[in-house]
Formats: sequence, C-alpha cells, structure tokens
Amino acid sequence: MKVVGGPSSLNLARKISELLNAPLVNVKTKRFPDGEFYFKFEDNVLGEHLIIVQSLEPPQDIRAMELFLMLHTARDLGAETIRLFIPYLAYSRQDRRYLDGECLSSAVIAEILEQLGADAIYTIDVHNERVLRMYKIPAYNLTASGELARYFAGRGLKDPLILAPDDEEMARRRAQHAAKALSAEWDALEKRRDRYTGEITTLSKELNVHGRDVIIIDDIVSTGKTAANAAKILREQGARRVFIGASHLLMINNAEKILLESGVEEIAGTDSVTNKYAKVSVAPIFVRALKGEMEQL
Ligand code: R5P
Repeated sequence: MKVVGGPSSLNLARKISELLNAPLVNVKTKRFPDGEFYFKFEDNVLGEHLIIVQSLEPPQDIRAMELFLMLHTARDLGAETIRLFIPYLAYSRQDRRYLDGECLSSAVIAEILEQLGADAIYTIDVHNERVLRMYKIPAYNLTASGELARYFAGRGLKDPLILAPDDEEMARRRAQHAAKALSAEWDALEKRRDRYTGEITTLSKELNVHGRDVIIIDDIVSTGKTAANAAKILREQGARRVFIGASHLLMINNAEKILLESGVEEIAGTDSVTNKYAKVSVAPIFVRALKGEMEQL
C-alpha cells in the first residue's frame, strides 16, 4: 500500500503514511503560466494499491480538478486499486433539486470519480449521507465529532452539553456521537434557511445551559452564521462558555469575527481544511477505518 498526497492535503497524507507505515509516492506538481495544473508520478505505480488523499477545501473547483488529474493518471498508469480519502467532500450540500432546474452537484462529483476509476471513497462528516448513496463503489462516511468533543475535554469543562445548531437528522447524530464521547447530554436547535436568499433563522427554545459549558458540534462552518445564532441563544440563556467544534472550518469572509462577537470562546476544526483552526487530525480516524474500525455515525 502506498499513499499519494494531493496539493491540498500534503501534511495529512504524510501523517497517514506514518500511521500506516506505508511510503508516500513521490509526485511532481506545478501550475502552467495560464493556471492549468500539471501532475506527474515520479515513482512507478503499476500494480500498486494506492490511497490518494486530497481534500476538496476552497478553492473547491481547483482542488477537484487536481484530484481528477491525479486519479486519472493513477488508473492510466496501472495502479491495482485506488482508494480516495477526501476529508472534505465539497458539493455535498446540493444532493437534491431544492428548486426546479438546479444541478445535482453531488451526483456530478460521484459520476466523475467513478468514471475515472476510483475503487472506494472515504470522507469525514459528509453534509448528508444521501450523497454517498449516489456512489456505486463503496463510500464511507467517517466522523470527527467524537474527536472534536474529546479535544475540548482538555478545557476543564463544567457540566458540558453538546448542541447541534440545527435539528436535521445528521446534525442530531453528530451531536449524539460527540455527547457519547464525553458521556454528556446533548440538545438541538431548529434552523431554517431561505432557499432564495440563503438567510438563516434559528428558533430559540429553552435550553438547560445556565452555568454550563456548551460545545456546538457541526459538520461545516462557512459564513459562521449558523453557529453564531446558536452561540447567541446559549449566551443569552446563561451558558458559561461556548465552544465550536466543526469538522470542516471553511471560515469564509469575516466568519471568525461573527463567531467571536456572538460569544464563542474557542473554535476547533480538523485538518480536512488547512488553516489555523485545524486542531484535530483526521488521519487516525481514516487509518482506523482502513483497519476496519470505522468511527461512523
Ligand atoms: C448546514 O446545514 C450545515 O450543517 C452547517 O450548519 C452550515 O453549512 C453552516 O454554514 P454557515 O456557517 O454559513 O451558517
């Protein structure tokens, strides 16, 4: 088994290769003057069992194209099997036609990866598992919610509560999983999104949080508005400290400012996205899954 690190996930690939005791494949990448991507294997991959690690973090379209070129080259050069670890599987929020005429973006990604010859795909906290049912190859959704909760255990938590900032099934399952990791209680808020404007409204409800530490667990923080709405409600109801643990901290525009102003004490994410919030590595989660110890919801 050999590990191939894509441009978005070189450090993560290195960690995975160390944990698996499997060599990293040497590759050469560059950008042509017009912006096109160049990819070359420097080692022979004929007959190899490859794991390609490439997160589709922003800029998603560029990351996706890099992955397509790597996957095609690996298959073309005769790799025996190719498993993809795509910790952040972009385009997973458009898994159905919410409005007439919309593109099923998740299906496009699935069809391309299958056509290019992937044998299996592993991801972390996909927005909705319906996306993975679009794949004919094995597709596994692993979770980092337990690891994120355990990260905050190091903050001397007082009577912690885990909160899902919306009450959709996957959000509840993530919160339950995180709560189990800490033997803590969990709860959820109801969130509504306007399909035309994207505006988010979170419905307030009475939560048992006075004097307690609360960890908001989510899959994605993008604009920060979902988590900020939840944090404001928690602080208004007397929560002692509010933390955010999310698997994919995209942190678009002034997300950090919005979150800190809403009363959040600390934001922690995973190395599915390469930024300063990547405090938890998904490498051990993936390696355990490869060994058959899936941490799934
Ligand atoms: C949506 O349902 C997801 O689970 C996240 O809550 C959402 O993507 C976060 O987006 P934002 O940070 O823009 O509110």
